[in-house]
Formats: sequence, C-alpha cells, structure tokens
Amino acid sequence: MEHVVHHPLPHDVPAEWAARAYVNEAKYLEMYERSIRDPEGFWYEHGSRIDWFTTYTRAKNASFGGPDGGEVSIRWFEDGVTNVAYNCIDRHLDTRGDQVAIIWEGDDPSESKHITYRQLHAEVCRFANVLRNRGVEKGSTVTIYMPMIPEAAYAMLACARLGAIHSVVFGGFSPDSLADRIRDCGSKMVITADEGLRGGRKVPLKANVDAAIAKVGGVDHVVVVRRTGGSVDMEAGRDVYYHEAAEQVTDECPAEHVDAEDPLFILYTSGSTGKPKGVLHTTGGYLVFASMTHQYVFDYHDGDIYWCTADVGWVTGHSYIVYGPLANGATTLMFEGVPNYPTVSRFWEVIDKHKVNIFYTAPTAIRSLMGAGDAPVKKTSRASLRLLGSVGEPINPEAWEWYYEVVGEKRCPIVDTWWQTETGGIMITPLPGATRLKPGSATRPFFGVVPQVVDAEGKVLEGACEGNLVIAESWPGQMRTVFGDHQRFVDTYFSAYKGKYFTGDGCRRDADGYYWITGRVDDVINVSGHRMGTAEVESALVSHPKVSEAAVVGYPHDIKGQGIYAYVTLMQGEEPSESLRKELVAHVRKEIGPIATPDLIQFAPGLPKTRSGKIMRRILRKIAEDEFSALGDTSTLADPAVVDDLIENRQNRA
Ligand code: WTA
Repeated sequence: MEHVVHHPLPHDVPAEWAARAYVNEAKYLEMYERSIRDPEGFWYEHGSRIDWFTTYTRAKNASFGGPDGGEVSIRWFEDGVTNVAYNCIDRHLDTRGDQVAIIWEGDDPSESKHITYRQLHAEVCRFANVLRNRGVEKGSTVTIYMPMIPEAAYAMLACARLGAIHSVVFGGFSPDSLADRIRDCGSKMVITADEGLRGGRKVPLKANVDAAIAKVGGVDHVVVVRRTGGSVDMEAGRDVYYHEAAEQVTDECPAEHVDAEDPLFILYTSGSTGKPKGVLHTTGGYLVFASMTHQYVFDYHDGDIYWCTADVGWVTGHSYIVYGPLANGATTLMFEGVPNYPTVSRFWEVIDKHKVNIFYTAPTAIRSLMGAGDAPVKKTSRASLRLLGSVGEPINPEAWEWYYEVVGEKRCPIVDTWWQTETGGIMITPLPGATRLKPGSATRPFFGVVPQVVDAEGKVLEGACEGNLVIAESWPGQMRTVFGDHQRFVDTYFSAYKGKYFTGDGCRRDADGYYWITGRVDDVINVSGHRMGTAEVESALVSHPKVSEAAVVGYPHDIKGQGIYAYVTLMQGEEPSESLRKELVAHVRKEIGPIATPDLIQFAPGLPKTRSGKIMRRILRKIAEDEFSALGDTSTLADPAVVDDLIENRQNRA
C-alpha cells in the first residue's frame, strides 16, 4: 500500500537537518522514552519553559476514567499560577522588546505592518482596558468574530490578560451559527470589525453580528474595529468603535494572576451528532504544550520568520499563529488574504517579501496551487525557506512530493502534523532532525503522546495494523471538558473505548511504527481542512420548508479532500428542479456559512433505511464515492428498490 516515491527520499535524515535541529533521532528516542516512562518527571521539568507567578508542585493529575468508566478529570500543573498574555508578551520585553512579534500581510499586497513586542504590549494592554471598562473580568466569556488583522490577536491576548475566556468564531460562519455560539457560552461582549477583506471581497462582519444579536439576547457590548471604513449601523449604548474607545484608556494593564486550570478559551467544533460543542482549553498545560510543540516540530530558533497560513478562527490559528509562537518569542506572520489573490503566486511572493523560513499550510491549499502548475512557484525565489509543514487533513503523497520538490526544492523537511481542536497541539509528527520522512505519513508521536490502534471491540493491536486511533494517556494540551456539558465530553471521547481518548480517526501503523491517518471514522467530514458534522448540514437542509429528509456524506474531492454530497427527499407535491437545487445550496450557506456549501445535491424519492428506520449511510457513502458495485449487504433494507434509483441518478458519475 505504500506509495512509490518518484524521487527517492534520503534514507536517513540529512546531516544538515539534524545538525541545526534541537533533537536528532537518538535524542528523540531518549526524550520520548522518558516522557512515557516518567510523565510526571518529564512534564514537571518542561513546565518551567513558561513563567509562573507561583510555581506548581506537581505536573500531572489526570484520569480517563479507567476501564470501568470512573470519573474523567484532567488537571496539569494545577497549583501553579500564571498568565498566558504575560508569557506571550511581558516576559520578552527585556530581551526582545524591539524584535518584531507580528508581521501582518494584508489582503492587498501593498499593505503590511510590523509590530514589535513592545508595541504588542501597549496594544494588548489598551485593548484589555477597553474590555475591562465594559465589564469584562476574570471568567467572563467574550466572542471574537474578526478578520485576520492584528487586532484579532490583540483581542485574544487582551482576554487572556484579564483572565477572560475568548470564543473565536471563524468569520466565514453565518449570523445563525454565530448566534448559536454566542448563546451557548453566554457572551455579553462581542468583538468584531466593520468588514473583513479576503481576495478583494468584503465580508459584512458587523452586519452579521447585528443579525446574530437580533436572535440572541444578552449582548451588552459590541466593540467594532475599523478595517475597511465601510459604513455600518452602530447602536447607541451598545456599539463602540475600538479606535474611539482606545483613546479613553492607557496602555498599561497588569496581567491577572490565573490558575493553571482556569479556562483560556472555548472553540466550537463539529462532531458526529448535535450542535457544535464548545471545546474548552485551560491555561498552563495548554501553553506548555503549544509552545513546546511549536519549538520542536518547527525547529524554531531565535530570529526565524515563521508563517502559519491558518485563520485565527480555527485551533491552528490559536496554537500556531498566536499562543505557541508568541510564548516562544517568535516572529509570527499573520496573513489576511487567500492563496490565489491577486495571483496564484501570492504565497510564494509573501515568503520572498518577508524572508519566511518556516511555512505551515493545509493540503487543500497545496493541491489547489499544484493544479496551477510549477511556473507560478518557480518564478519566485523561496531561498529563505527551511522547513515546510502540513495540517488539517491527510496529505496525499502526490501533493506531498510536489510540496517537497517544487516548493521546497528538496531542501526542506516536511512536517505532516496530525492533531485536533481537542488536542490543543500537535500529537503525531516528524521532528525535522530526527525523523526519516515518508510522504503521506504523520510518522511518530510527539513527547508524552501514547497513541494506540484498536479494533472495533477495543482490543489494542500490535505491530503493523489498521484500526481506530486512540490516545491512552493524558497530555498537557488536551481539552478539559465541553463547555457547560461535562457528560457530553465523557460520552463523546471516553465511552467508545473506556479509559482511552477516542480521536474519531482511523489509522494504519506500518512495520516501522509510523502512523498513517486514514480519515474520520465517524460522521464528521473534512472539507478543505474544515471540520463539518454531516448532522449539521442535514439539519440545515431539513429546515427548508420543501425538504422532507436529508442525508449528507463526504466523497473524495480532488482539491478539497472531501466534498459534501447531500441526498434530499422533498415534501409531497414538491418537484426537483435546478432552481430548487440552487435554493437549497443558498439555504445551507445562510444557515451555517459558505464553508458548508453542498457540492452535489441528489434528489431522491427515498433514502435507504433499515426496517427499524435507520438511514444506512454506508450505502450512501459508497454511491457518493461512485463505488456502487461494492454496496455490500443490502438485504436488511426496508425497501431495496430505493438503491437502484439512487445509483441511477447519482451525481458523481466517473
Ligand atoms: C484531520 C485541525 C491527517 C483529522 C488541527 C482530525 C489530519 C481532524 C491531519 C481535526 C493530518 C488534522 N493528517 N488528518 N496531518 N491533521 N487531520 O479539529 O481527521 O480542525 O481528526 O484540527 O483533521 O480537525 P481540527
């Protein structure tokens, strides 16, 4: 099954990579072995990579409930007291106050900015004072709905400084989705911008906030950062422009002392069932893990220019644009735009413009740029590049090789990093000086991570095998609970395999002990690296008055990894039509946001169901994958004839 590499990779890690890296193979093995044998000692030691106001006396205090399903409780460094913003800013001021902390590259290539650590300190303090004057304090929840501008990072860090809990909502979500998230965490404060700017197009962020607030009560304050200067409605007493409020406050604001286990942020993510859940991350363990993975995985050294292309609306933006890099005193680049604007050379031009050394992006971007050919890459220099990273979905070996050969000119190791919103930081990944690479494999576990492959019954498989991926021991960066619903946390992650964290991913382990993530085994699909619950798209579809039933599955998509395939049955008397199809697509975009746009909609007179009325998704998946010759056993269907119609009218004909 292993992919044949066209240009064989070096069998061993090249000496140049190992020479500059923090760890070579022997050191990795030694540190990994210690982290597993003595997690308390290992993490006690590495916990000191961040500064503490009161140091902890113990590192780990965690239980996954055990085989009999006891209490799930995860605590790290629990009697330590610290502050994330202090660690990301204040502690660097003496040594690197004048070093650039954030390079901002605007959507328009003529716009960019450099923000030093000293400026960052002043900006974040000012922002914190604006929030504090409006009632934000330790434990408050604050919703942030922002474009990729430095103020998004200031807002996050300002919350952290005050000990408030931020919930960043990706700017591509609809007012309805935003309203759900504001309601769930009970934010009284929303931070937004007048409009966002992506690929030359404006995104009406403030108008979306207004529409969301019309659906949920309880928002007392909206702080609006001016980005485009476009005109927006401002409600007196509730809404204030940030630049006006900022004039009224000083740029000094002490960092609140917070406990290691006090919450840092909530981030909503999709699962198999129900509404998105609020993944809760806390302070100490999260920052230790985010900063340590950032240093070792990207082999970050002082002076490196580091660029992660994610949006701060996703966990990758939290851990690897803001918190990990800034805790390490890095220079982190924040990009407002998109890979193909104004041209498909944009990424590579930005790399040359800012002399980027480390570049971290998603397979979907790589595949779409690969489709534009080599010329737009080759016309740029990319001489500054030293390391490439990939995240968000499995990277197919063809895209891996193109990234390695054309973008990195075989000079740059690729770190294919597997992790999740729930894990807080990178879990399975190569380390550039230590790990021989295999295209398409996330390779081996990071320090302290104990992956296991289990079969459907939970039996732990040994050696080369394939099954479901679980993590057997706690690590400092893991989520602590689902906000407001600890039982849902236990049910979702610790009930499939008692005493183990279930990832929802399938995986293969080869004879070298390398992990190959095969994709989700639950009803979550991964569209362009964005997680989408099929149940969410289904519920958006059935909320349309003409729709009676809907079933949504993923199917292989050349660029997006997976596309969204929806089977829809209509209410009695409704007729399928092209215009209805368009109406349904628009309806889903309105309900959830553009990232949930169905790629294919098939109108079906009936869906395949068991006699007890359960939709047989396995069959729908096979048809969507255009593999209908391998439908398996359909004898348990209530009405086997529906399958013939589904195949006949499939939208995905090869
Ligand atoms: C998938 C993003 C294969 C996986 C950080 C996981 C990957 C889900 C990889 C989490 C990778 C992420 N190789 N699959 N390198 N990275 N995934 O929560 O299915 O947005 O469960 O976190 O993305 O997506 P999330």
